Amino acid sequence: MPAKIIVVMSPKGGVGKTTTAVNIATAISNLNKKTLLIDANLETPHVAVYYGFVGFKYSLEDVLNEKAKIEEAIYTGDNPNFHLLPSRVIKSSQDKSAYKLININIYLEKLRDKYDFIVIDSKPSYDIEFIKLIKEAKSLIISNPDITSIIEAKKLKEELDEAGIKIMGLVVNKVNSRVKEQMTEKEIKEMTGINNIWKIREDHGVYNALRQGIPIVLSSQNSIAAKDITNIARQIIKI
Ligand SMILES: Nc1ncnc2c1ncn2[C@@H]1O[C@H](COP(=O)(O)OP(=O)(O)O)[C@@H](O)[C@H]1O
Ligand SMILES: [Mg+2]
Repeated sequence: MPAKIIVVMSPKGGVGKTTTAVNIATAISNLNKKTLLIDANLETPHVAVYYGFVGFKYSLEDVLNEKAKIEEAIYTGDNPNFHLLPSRVIKSSQDKSAYKLININIYLEKLRDKYDFIVIDSKPSYDIEFIKLIKEAKSLIISNPDITSIIEAKKLKEELDEAGIKIMGLVVNKVNSRVKEQMTEKEIKEMTGINNIWKIREDHGVYNALRQGIPIVLSSQNSIAAKDITNIARQIIKI
C-alpha cells in the first residue's frame, strides 16, 4: 500500500505543530511503521532542531531547487524505520518563496511506495493551497484549548471541507486540567464539528526534550505528553 500522507497544519504558530509532527512521526516509526518526516515549513523550519540535528549537507530546499537528489536529503539515525527530510533555517531576509513547493507532489509520488507514513510539517496558515497539491493527503489540525485557537481551527476545518480534503483529527495541545477556563472536549467537538479530538497535556518535559534535541516520546517515554502522543500514534495507524 502507498504511504498515508499526513499534513500537520494550524492557522497559528506556537501551538505545538512542530512538537506534534516530530513526536507523532517518531512514535509511529516506533510502532514499526516505516515513516518519513518532512519539514515543509520553509519560513520557520524547526524540525531538525527537535532532533538536535545540525550540519546536514542537503535539505528540502536543495531538492526543490534541483541541487540535490531527494535521496541525498533524506537522513536516518538509530531507528531504521525513521527517515527525516529537513529544511534549513536561514536569514529571514532570504526569500524562500522562490522554492518550488508546487512540485512537492512529484517528489512524494516517488517516495510513496517506500514508506507506510509520510508526515509533513507545514507553515502556520489558513492557506490550504499546499495540502491541495498533495494527492490523497489528510490534514491533522493542531490547536490549543483556548477559544481563539479553536475558532481558528474551525475556520481551517471549513476551508478544508470546502476543498474536499479529509481531516484525520484535531489535536488539542497544551491541555491543563487545572486551568478551568480551557474548553472541554465536548465543547470543542460541538464548536468545530470534528469528531476525532485528541489531546496532548501540557508538560514541561517538552521544553527539556527540545533542549536535549531528543523527541519526548524517546527521551521521556513515561511523561504525560509522551503517553498522550503515543496513544494518538496508535490510533492513527489504525485509521
Ligand atoms: N504539550 C506541551 N507542553 C508544554 N510545552 C509545549 C507542548 N507542546 C509544545 N510546547 C512548547 O511550545 C513551544 C512551541 O511549540 P512548537 O511545536 O515549536 O510550535 P509551532 O510549531 O506550532 O510553532 C515550544 O517551546 C514547545 O516546547
Ligand atoms: Mg513549528
